[in-house]
Amino acid sequence: MKRIALLGATGSIGRQALEIIDAHPELELCALAAGSQRQEAERVAAERRVRHLSVGGDPPLDELVAASEPDVVLNAVVGFAGLPATLAALEAGIDLALANKESLVAAGDLALSAQRRGGGRILPVDSEHSAAFQCLEERAPASVDSLVLTASGGPFRGRPRDELASVTPAEALAHPTWSMGPKITIDSATLMNKGLELIEAHFLFGLPYDRIEVVVHPSSIVHAMVRFRDGATLAHLGYPDMRVPISYALTYPERAATPIAPLDFSAGLRLEFAPPDLEAFPCLALARAAGEAGGTAPCILNAANEVAVTAFLAGALPFLGIAEVVERTLAAVDGAPARDLADLVAVDEEARRVAASLSRELVH
Ligand SMILES: NC(=O)c1ccc[n+]([C@@H]2O[C@H](COP(=O)([O-])OP(=O)(O)OC[C@H]3O[C@@H](n4cnc5c(N)ncnc54)[C@H](OP(=O)(O)O)[C@@H]3O)[C@@H](O)[C@H]2O)c1
Repeated sequence: MKRIALLGATGSIGRQALEIIDAHPELELCALAAGSQRQEAERVAAERRVRHLSVGGDPPLDELVAASEPDVVLNAVVGFAGLPATLAALEAGIDLALANKESLVAAGDLALSAQRRGGGRILPVDSEHSAAFQCLEERAPASVDSLVLTASGGPFRGRPRDELASVTPAEALAHPTWSMGPKITIDSATLMNKGLELIEAHFLFGLPYDRIEVVVHPSSIVHAMVRFRDGATLAHLGYPDMRVPISYALTYPERAATPIAPLDFSAGLRLEFAPPDLEAFPCLALARAAGEAGGTAPCILNAANEVAVTAFLAGALPFLGIAEVVERTLAAVDGAPARDLADLVAVDEEARRVAASLSRELVH
């Protein structure tokens, strides 16, 4: 039996994880957390006789993790709110199935120190990182030439910058290949999602930024590729369905069966790749620069992006304003490294204040 604490159980990843857990008697749900959907969380917990439940941060996620004694924490909370659970799992040496990329982006150094102390594993749930993890098979970074992350390009792929000024939240939420929660769907439309993934990959695999490339691959069949120093490239392919990486992380290292069909080549398969358009989608370049700058720049980038995406979804900021708010927040807030979690939380709060004020300024 493997005991699973599922955080973010009412969301897109959370619901798909429940499907996987329900289908495997050897996976036992021991704790659940949700944000605002109390009734739904209570229903899911009652149906599965789960005793440890947190809604809206009560009890705090780190306390929930400690009390429920899981073997694996699946962190599928959205945003910086997932950070305490990431740190708690790593500090306690519990395996962390990580969907919540924002925690690793904002607190990569703190998270890796916690992991070194605790000794647990990070099993990536993000499809690209799960793919890279499988291609890498824990080989040393020295054997790797470079990592290639694929991006679908989102709903606005191919559109020039000036056509993006008036796009609406409804248009941005219509993702061509993946069905996901609203925040990551907007991040995919701006390519910030790929920027966050770039930083996530840097921390997960210990590769410098100049050895991580992003390419646009519209059909989302190839999830990641690793070029090795001997000239070989390994790619991970499959239909875009998050149940595959969720199942891989929860049943690691067994690779349990899922209901998802393997690739069918009988109708032919074309794989196309192109470089991203950084002028139309500046968030990717902003994320790369923040990652390279290090310190708390990725935390500031993430906080400003969360604020700007919320404003865009509320109709209070134009689409192109998201990158502008992020860029100006990065310029305004000091990105010196955080000594501890309190330092980091203070930087996150400062970046949110600045980004909220810039968002208001941009529309008046
Ligand atoms: N969806 C995907 O396909 C996908 C793919 C790769 C990576 N990810 C990553 O996985 C994470 C979740 O994405 P998602 O698409 O599943 O998002 P989502 O559908 O918006 O779900 C977010 C979940 O987080 C919960 N939550 C929010 N604030 C919380 C808090 N303070 N405490 C506890 N729970 C809280 C929500 O609860 P309520 O609904 O009850 O408010 C919900 O269960 C994100 O970091 C995303 O980048 C998602």
